[in-house]
Amino acid sequence: MAEAPFGLLAELTHRCPLQCGYCSNPLELVRRDAELSTEDWRRVFDQARSLGCLQVHLSGGEPLLRQDLPELVSHANSLGCYVNLVTSGVGLSRDRLRSLASLGVDHVQLSLQDATRAGNDRIAGIKAFDRKVEAAAFVREEGLPLTVNTVLHRQNLDHVAGIIAMAEEMGAERLELANTQYYGWALRNRAALLPTREQLAAADPVVASAQERLRGRMEIVYVIADYHEAHPKPCMYGWGARQLTVAPNGDVLPCPAATVISSLRIENVRESSLHDIWHSSSSFNAFRGFDWMQDPCRSCPRKEVDFGGCRCQAFQLTGDAAATDPVCSLSPSRSTVDQILATEMAPADVPAMAMRKMR
Ligand SMILES: C[S@@+](CC[C@H](N)C(=O)[O-])C[C@H]1O[C@@H](n2cnc3c(N)ncnc32)[C@H](O)[C@@H]1O
Ligand code: SF4
Ligand code: SF4
Repeated sequence: MAEAPFGLLAELTHRCPLQCGYCSNPLELVRRDAELSTEDWRRVFDQARSLGCLQVHLSGGEPLLRQDLPELVSHANSLGCYVNLVTSGVGLSRDRLRSLASLGVDHVQLSLQDATRAGNDRIAGIKAFDRKVEAAAFVREEGLPLTVNTVLHRQNLDHVAGIIAMAEEMGAERLELANTQYYGWALRNRAALLPTREQLAAADPVVASAQERLRGRMEIVYVIADYHEAHPKPCMYGWGARQLTVAPNGDVLPCPAATVISSLRIENVRESSLHDIWHSSSSFNAFRGFDWMQDPCRSCPRKEVDFGGCRCQAFQLTGDAAATDPVCSLSPSRSTVDQILATEMAPADVPAMAMRKMR
């Protein structure tokens, strides 16, 4: 029997006022009329808590677009869960945050697209910067812990020092500098997003010295640009090990990107309980443990560290979800990644990004 999950990522909606071209949401977004109802979400939270989840991450899309957000926050809080609001900040007024905090929001994760107003708003596709700065101030006023999350790519990596300074100014306890993961819209826009080696080489020491300077004041988590590395990023804590995701339409996913693996049979909370899906579904059991692995992973000592890398990336780039993640230098498909880097990383002629739209 699998151990209990720690956290539920509740993607309440795919609707969002922003249009980030790096968004990891799927190209085919769940329409509003297919979203779970308030009652459905209450039942999902009940089942997640019974299963063992202690953290509920309210995300999307933009969770503030759900009119029933106060009720959902209050319900997750009444179950004893730690409630994290993952938001662009657009739509977060002082009164709204005060009310959500009183109902049980424990932590806010705010996305920031770039260091300056012009850069931020260009990447977000709308004027959002001033509202994010305001939202951060409201979070601080309310005394809630704040994490700033910035997705890094070719168009903002050179501004990493400014992004760190902005997060400090916003009063963040934690800054996640996450190099883009290529799923959904980000995969569609990869040629506009892949950073150059020179950009990464310049950013690495800036991040390292800020981590040192800000130790004890602001934690900086740096997620690597895995295409440029010799080893893959770990599959979370292992597939189906610590967290589950419920998509806006009730699909239950072992990883937020798992819809890309077309060979997986995805179950839905409208038809099965989270308990049954977590413990018995073919999707959650597909890559648990190590028995599913092929060589070189099967006989590699790093398998307990990285779990063979990302299953979604393996499927997207090789067509086989059980393959070694092709970013690994030991993968027989590493040349696929090298080829992508060679063709898409050329600094000239950066293509325009397709903006993700659904309001
Ligand atoms: C999909 S967003 C939804 C919540 C909200 N709209 C926001 O942007 O904060 C959830 C988190 O994923 C991050 N994110 C989005 N696309 C990503 C990507 N391709 N790679 C890594 N992180 C990504 C966002 O910055 C945000 O912190
Ligand atoms: S478009 Fe941007 S703000 Fe909206 S869900 Fe995607 S990452 Fe979040
Ligand atoms: S062979 Fe597999 S386990 Fe070993 S480093 Fe590469 S991806 Fe990780």
